Amino acid sequence: MGKVHVLDHPLIQHKLTYIRDKDTGTKEFRELVDEVAMLMAFEITRNLPLQEKTINTPVMEAQTKVLAGKKIGLIPILRAGLGMVDGMLKLIPAARVGHVGLYRDPETLKPVEYYIKLPKDIEERELIVIDPMLATGGSANDTIHSLKKRGAKQIRLMCLVAAPEGVEVIKEEHPDVDIYLAALDDKLDDHGYIVPGLGDAGDRLFGTK
Ligand code: URA
Repeated sequence: MGKVHVLDHPLIQHKLTYIRDKDTGTKEFRELVDEVAMLMAFEITRNLPLQEKTINTPVMEAQTKVLAGKKIGLIPILRAGLGMVDGMLKLIPAARVGHVGLYRDPETLKPVEYYIKLPKDIEERELIVIDPMLATGGSANDTIHSLKKRGAKQIRLMCLVAAPEGVEVIKEEHPDVDIYLAALDDKLDDHGYIVPGLGDAGDRLFGTK
């Protein structure tokens, strides 16, 4: 079963409080999401493999370590996922970025991908699907299915805030996918908003409300 990791670093929790605050304006909201994404990237990359490297310091030859070059792909779900990409790229600048945009057909209720552009070698990459809000889990679930259908083998999901309902969907449908969160909230309200949540992440990031 996929594990749920709530990243409780004090800086993440502090910044998340101001992200949630309704009086935080667009500029500050965007900056804080960027900073939290960077901090989450720090935590999520904790287990990246290292390899030995011999270098010369000004003092002597030394056996040191560098990243073993694991290939990473960031997959933001449009549009709110975009708000977390730059922060993550600050720490993992060589990561490739794929984009997924989808909506649910109101009649068939089937997911419709209106945009998908992925790195060619997704089957070799560790993919991190990014969506700030894991609400019903519908978009993340559909995205992960879509990536698997295209050959992805290693997938993790990173969100700022999740509702238990969304977490259950991902655990059920994708027991191989670990979930990384800054907070696990109480529930969804009747309009599908996470409670207490932070409102509409896309609108707050892009100032569209
Ligand atoms: N999407 C959002 O942006 N916010 C929510 O609370 C739920 C889904």
